[in-house]
Parts: sequence; C-alpha cells; structure tokens
Amino acid sequence: MSKSSGGDRWLNELGYKLGQTLGEGSYSKVRVATSAKYKGPLAIKVVDRRRAPPDFVHKFLPRELSILRAIRHPNIVRVFEFIEVCNGKLYIVMEAASTDLLQLVQQLGKLPCIPEARDIFLQVVSAVRYLHDRNLVHRDLKCENVLLTADGRRAKLTDFGFGRESRGYPDLSTTYCGSAAYASPEVLLGIPYDPKKYDVWSLGVVLYVMVTGCMPFDDSHIHSMPRRQKKGVFYPEGLPPLPEPCKSLIAQLLQFSPASRPGVGQVAKNSWLKGGTLNKEPSSK
Ligand SMILES: Nc1ncnc2c1ncn2[C@@H]1O[C@H](COP(=O)(O)OP(=O)(O)O)[C@@H](O)[C@H]1O
Ligand SMILES: [Mg+2]
Repeated sequence: MSKSSGGDRWLNELGYKLGQTLGEGSYSKVRVATSAKYKGPLAIKVVDRRRAPPDFVHKFLPRELSILRAIRHPNIVRVFEFIEVCNGKLYIVMEAASTDLLQLVQQLGKLPCIPEARDIFLQVVSAVRYLHDRNLVHRDLKCENVLLTADGRRAKLTDFGFGRESRGYPDLSTTYCGSAAYASPEVLLGIPYDPKKYDVWSLGVVLYVMVTGCMPFDDSHIHSMPRRQKKGVFYPEGLPPLPEPCKSLIAQLLQFSPASRPGVGQVAKNSWLKGGTLNKEPSSK
C-alpha cells in the first residue's frame, strides 16, 4: 500500500517513481527513484522543512542548496534537479550510487590498503581539494558521506548539510558540527577553528577507518577524546602491517595542531597516494 503524501503525488505527476529508502537523517530521507527523463537509477533526498528546526531551514539547508548548485566534479554526487512543493517538502534529484563507504567497510571488515583504499581515498581528496580551491568546506566528512558506484571503485562525496563558504585561516568557524568520531580536537574543544583543517583531520579518520576497519578514537567518552587525540593514533594489535607511507600520511592528517596539518593541496601531492597513477608510467632506468 502506498502512503504517498501530497508532495509525493506531485512527484509522480512529474514522472518520478519513488522506491525503497536508502538512508535516513534527522530531517530527510533518501530514496531510490526512477524517471522517464533521466537514464539510470536516481536517488531523491526528500527534505521535510516542517519537521526541521529553524536553524536547519534558514541556515544550513540554504547553504547546502547553494553549494550543490555551484559545484560539479566527477567525485562529487551529481544533482540534476531541485523540486520544491508548497507543503514544505523539497526533493533533491541526484544520481544514485550503489552503496556508501561505511557499508563497504562493514561488509569487508576493512579494505586492502593498495589499491582499493588508496584509490578511493585519492578520489575523496580530489573532491575536497576541488571544494577548498573554491573556498568551500564540507565539515561532515565521514565514510557514510562517501558514496560508491556499483563496481565499488568510483567515489562520490555527498551531504553538504554542514558545508559553507570559508577561506580557511584566519577565517574561522564557530559552528561545532559533524560527528564526534570524525571531529578534530579543536572542534571537540569548542575553539574557533579553521574549517579547512577540520576537513583534513576528518580525511585522516576516513583513511584510518578504511585500512583498519576500526575508528581511531573511540567516541563513547567525548570529553576525553582530545586528550587521546593528543597522544597520537594507535593501531589495533594483530592487524597485518600497513605500508609505512600510509601510516605516515595518517599521522600527518591527524596532527593535533591544525597549523601542523597539511593543506589538502599538499595531501594530493603525497607520493604514496599518487603512487597508483605514477606506477603506470614507464620507468626510465
Ligand atoms: N545518491 C545516493 N545514492 C545512494 N545512496 C545515497 C545517495 N545519497 C544518500 N545516500 C544514502 O543515504 C544516506 C544519507 O544521505 P545524506 O545525504 O548523507 O543525508 P543526511 O543529511 O541525512 O546524512 C547516505 O549515508 C547514503 O547511505
Ligand atoms: Mg550524511
């Protein structure tokens, strides 16, 4: 039995058919969809403004929409259309991915460092570099927000719900957002922060999660996280050894002091990360 609301009926009239739910947030639901207009599977993020608090409706949602309208990159989810209906519902029509990075890691336990984790991470870095070059920041980088295509190889960053414009240092942010497990010490401590360096920290957490299948910092006691983050990252015992350059990259990204963390442009130049592409070139002996 379909329980389509007024808004969903409008969507049907426009030729869209909504299917199963792919993911759910506090004020939105992402559902599979099809349409005569676009080839291939679609995903529609249904946002219900009536269920959301004023901060979300007047601050975060308008930022998310204006960022989505402004960007286009092969590693960022492609949005085709925004549909507004008068009952407060908003539909964001986008390309559908087949899974997200969290689901993939949970399915496989962890990813082989080379090539899978490195390939996916390089693509996420490329998306974040694109954003930072345009003075946009994501502020909610985490495995759930990295979508993957059916072959599991193409990564697409999504969820710009905490995105904003920022030039980075000395243009500081004071909205302490994102998920604790991916949050940098300065964000957890409530210190005005450089959001670009916050993204770099979260990238470090994403890489660690991919190659170990574990979280680097347990977030069940948030107040003690900064102290543990200061000691540096540990690896679970019994884990097969990781390549030193990979561990060294994680350590750089997870530097306690934001000023010591590299910018994403520098990260993109990391020789281990670029190894996959460089190795394809013939060696000149
Ligand atoms: N285009 C898409 N294709 C496939 N799954 C998606 C897509 N967009 C979102 N999802 C799934 O829905 C979840 C929630 O979407 P997201 O945009 O992150 O919303 P929220 O703001 O509620 O976190 C994602 O973590 C992912 O599992
Ligand atoms: Mg999300």
